[in-house]
Amino acid sequence: MASERTLAIIKPDAVVANNIGNILAIIEGKKFSIKKAEMLRLSKQKAEGFYAIHSDKPFFSNLTDFMSSGPIFVMVLDGKHAIQRWRETMGATNPAEAGPGTVRNLYGTSIERNATHGSDGPQTAAFEISYFFPGYKMAK
Ligand code: CDP
Ligand code: MG
Repeated sequence: MASERTLAIIKPDAVVANNIGNILAIIEGKKFSIKKAEMLRLSKQKAEGFYAIHSDKPFFSNLTDFMSSGPIFVMVLDGKHAIQRWRETMGATNPAEAGPGTVRNLYGTSIERNATHGSDGPQTAAFEISYFFPGYKMAK
């Protein structure tokens, strides 16, 4: 298959813990190509827009508070099966259930503060990439 692109975020917990470099080393070690990257801070409103799919969940308010609590590092990753491979590289949503060596196992501290985000499918990847990098061309 052709390469595909996914949105990855290093969340505020991992940024404040100085784990950007450690996580980038894992990403590069897995041969993803980093196409775009930006450090930014979300407003509460922009965090709510990003996680709109979860707006009816009990964790929505805490999650969007957390995601707007400090800087995040947002990237577009490219590679074969990048969406699924980045999900596998992160591990399970709950760090306590994430396999050894996964990003969330290594650097997550709770189901909320789980170090990283990754798109869960091609449509969400397209939405999420355009949410942060409007006008970015998905094709090579
Ligand atoms: O990030 P992922 O796709 O693995 O999980 P999700 O189900 O789409 O949830 C989005 C984010 O909400 C998670 O990464 C957690 O930060 C947070 N969350 C939470 O705080 N409490 C839960 N019970 C589930 C998710
Ligand atoms: Mg998700």
